[in-house]
Amino acid sequence: MSVNKTPAARLGEPITFPVSGRTAPNRFLNAAMSESLCTWDDVDFSKRGLPTPEYISLYKAWGQGGWGQNVTGNVQIEPDHVETSGNAIIPRDAPFSGPRFEGFKAVASVAKADGGLIVAQVSHPGRQVPDTIQRHPISASDIQQPAVFFGNFAKPRAATKEDINRVIEGFAHAAEYLEKAGFDGIQLHGAHGYLIAQFLSPRTNKRTDQYGGSVTNRARLAVEIADAVHRRVSASFVVGIKINSVEFQEDGITPEDAAQLCSALEGAGFDYFELSGGNYEEFAFVHKKESTKKREAFFLDFAETIMAARKKTGKEPRVYITGGFRTVKGLADALDVVDGVGVGKSACADPAIAGKIVQGQVDTLPPTTIPEAETAAAMVCAKKQLQQIASGEAPMDLSVSDRWQAYMAPIIAAMKPKEEGNL
Ligand SMILES: Cc1cc2nc3c(=O)[nH]c(=O)nc-3n(C[C@H](O)[C@H](O)[C@H](O)COP(=O)(O)O)c2cc1C
Repeated sequence: MSVNKTPAARLGEPITFPVSGRTAPNRFLNAAMSESLCTWDDVDFSKRGLPTPEYISLYKAWGQGGWGQNVTGNVQIEPDHVETSGNAIIPRDAPFSGPRFEGFKAVASVAKADGGLIVAQVSHPGRQVPDTIQRHPISASDIQQPAVFFGNFAKPRAATKEDINRVIEGFAHAAEYLEKAGFDGIQLHGAHGYLIAQFLSPRTNKRTDQYGGSVTNRARLAVEIADAVHRRVSASFVVGIKINSVEFQEDGITPEDAAQLCSALEGAGFDYFELSGGNYEEFAFVHKKESTKKREAFFLDFAETIMAARKKTGKEPRVYITGGFRTVKGLADALDVVDGVGVGKSACADPAIAGKIVQGQVDTLPPTTIPEAETAAAMVCAKKQLQQIASGEAPMDLSVSDRWQAYMAPIIAAMKPKEEGNL
């Protein structure tokens, strides 16, 4: 504990990663947020997922915002297995040249111009791909994602060893591609119910082969991806993973399970774990207990269980916790438990909020009048804000209640709020 340091000073301390040896200049992580700012073509796969000028300018704004680490919204590895249309894609056969590669190079160069790290979140949706895009998804087992109000999902088949090898190769290729394009690292998306999480969670993984059953087996896909990534990139490339600390569902991941998973993942050369929670079946971006509300972060109680089980080897992954923060004190107090703090929606309300906090200019995150229970509205509005930043506009002011209500009214009326499914 740093009793003599101000909250701003604590949050401003650098964080060095144990495997890559890289240092992020402060404790802030700008959490991955699906942007829907890349190209999409309904028919031609080669025209899907290319960075646009707006996508690049969003990362320029965040690159200038004082974040220790900016993590992109999820970047997919197959053009027809995506969590939504319009996000970045690095197909397995994408060459290290041409407009797609130039686009990623431009993102990397603007995002790290002011000293923060730029890390791409790489992901495969598994069963969480809308059935309008993919009728034949894969998953750990053939358990269908129930329909949610923003879409339907086809019944998946259990991935074969060949599917698994293709997925591993996709992640490894994406890592090499991103490093060559100038990115500082990648983060595997192992949270929120996407493919890696489908393997990690006993709720969706009923396999009886070496990828199912024990914690070690369920973690095997993530470990094999990490191994394949390490073989393809240099020793100084950052490799992190976002995982669920809890799933709040029958057979879902419990904090004790997550602690064991972290131990199983510790030997895989991860620089850090980012702890989150929930999935499409049960969103978790709300405070479930009064005690949690006081501590602001949704998952801090669970992080304590996970941190207590962590082996102290000197090389143990750093741990970030993301979700629910409101004040600078809340952010700094979380550092009593974890090493770093992730911030999502507030980075859309003010792309430079991390820098302002570290410089001691503010003591809260941007205020919002959206009630916490309105998770979907908060996500839709945050996405609108990041798209406004990308277009050079000021983000909508959520401290004024009629502003966001007016924006949401036609979306609710049309009953097609598609965007909020993207975690
Ligand atoms: C618009 C939007 C898109 C998101 N997309 C992703 C994503 O692509 N990958 C991911 O891991 N989390 C995603 N998230 C979740 C955030 O990274 C973060 O975990 C969550 O918003 C909680 O943090 P907060 O309370 O600071 O907003 C998204 C959140 C929002 C608001």
